[in-house]
Amino acid sequence: MARSVPSSPLLCIAHRGGSQLFSENTLAAFTESLALGVDAIELDIWNIGGELLVTHDRRLGKTLPGQGRLIDHHPQQLKELILECGNRLTTLPEVLELVGNQVMLNIELKGPNCVDGVASALESYARDHQAGFDHYVISSFDHRQLYDFKQCLPQVKRGVLVEGVPLDYAACADALEAYSFHPSINFINQELVNDAKVRGLQVWVYTVNEEEDMQWMVELGVDGVFTDFPRRLLAFNHENTIQDR
Ligand code: G3P
Ligand code: CA
Repeated sequence: MARSVPSSPLLCIAHRGGSQLFSENTLAAFTESLALGVDAIELDIWNIGGELLVTHDRRLGKTLPGQGRLIDHHPQQLKELILECGNRLTTLPEVLELVGNQVMLNIELKGPNCVDGVASALESYARDHQAGFDHYVISSFDHRQLYDFKQCLPQVKRGVLVEGVPLDYAACADALEAYSFHPSINFINQELVNDAKVRGLQVWVYTVNEEEDMQWMVELGVDGVFTDFPRRLLAFNHENTIQDR
């Protein structure tokens, strides 16, 4: 009888919680992604007046009603805003409570000065729930913050975000002793993937929404992708599950 060992081609990471499921970076989107059975959830963090707010944009006007720079607002004022979907902004501690260790959680440090607050939030959650840190990946385009995070909480995995093709490919991940390398689909090529793999890194590509691009990622040997359409990626994985006979 044939032995069937399914192996999903691509780790399914819900980008901003799966922004086509529900408004991005909301508890509703995270809940929906968990229900779908994603492998990981990605979210964006800003430290505004000591509050770790889960949101992406530097300015109001797109996902947040209003105008001006995020950093020029009081956190309480931001937390009282009603988003178009009817929800409010959430905070990192609320997300930690919701997600627990059900899936991997990729916390992107989007704004400046996030290191101490995020490290404290993870430590508090771990202490209060007798939990570990295995399922967290801290990522950022700001490699200085990743370096500082490594000093602060070295046991938490680090993911190195890049846009473009660095001159020395994935070498920037070495000093950070990173777990994963996160390049953009707009600049991905085989040399970049190969260099990251040789360095022992997981390769997670953002943002992969189309089926033909999912297929391309498999051919490049990518490990996981950030997608706004987790349902689509899970279906792709299901159709392309490797059957070992
Ligand atoms: O972490 C991958 C991806 O989220 C980075 O780009 O702009 O969507 O935060 P952005
Ligand atoms: Ca992000």
